[in-house]
Amino acid sequence: MKFGTVALTLGLAIVIFVTPRLLPAEQSAPTPSLNMSPDLQQLFQAEMRELLLGTQRIAGALPIANWDGIADSAMAMRNSYVLEQTLTTTQRHDLEQLPEQFKAFDEAFHLRAEKLAHAAKATDAEAVSFHFSRLLDTCVACHSTYATSTFPNFRSEGGVEHRH
Ligand code: HEC
Repeated sequence: MKFGTVALTLGLAIVIFVTPRLLPAEQSAPTPSLNMSPDLQQLFQAEMRELLLGTQRIAGALPIANWDGIADSAMAMRNSYVLEQTLTTTQRHDLEQLPEQFKAFDEAFHLRAEKLAHAAKATDAEAVSFHFSRLLDTCVACHSTYATSTFPNFRSEGGVEHRH
């Protein structure tokens, strides 16, 4: 490949793969804006990645009846809350202005993680399985309402209340 071709390909790749990530979230109209400051958003995204790891650990622990592992992961998820970190006044203000429905989704998630931890401590396989599945529903409920720019595949569903 000639240098010009390489440069063009590289340029195109940057436009295609990098540019969409740089666009502000407001560009996708249907998602209600959360108005988080960039630093709070970063904390929040880091917490989300921890949640994903937690669900993966639990999914691995469930089939082998590792109840302690499940209880630990579920409790860690239950206790993970951006609110409980050391935040600046601006970040606190940002959190307080989040929509009530968002806070309700968040609360439902924390409550479910707690129920899952209790079920694991009680070594109740059926209840663990039930609450784990409901826990994933809480991720979906919030993402399909507030994270459709991050997860556009939720868009066609029009929110969790329209699922079948
Ligand atoms: C109260 C709402 C809410 C709940 C509950 C929730 N999420 Fe999220 N999550 C979001 C939002 C909003 C984003 C998009 C954040 C952004 O892009 O700025 C997100 C993004 C993510 C990401 C991408 C993070 C990144 O690197 O940018 C992952 C992974 C994730 N969530 C996992 C989960 C899992 C797993 C659960 C459930 C166990 C969960 N979330 C529950 C709101 C929520």
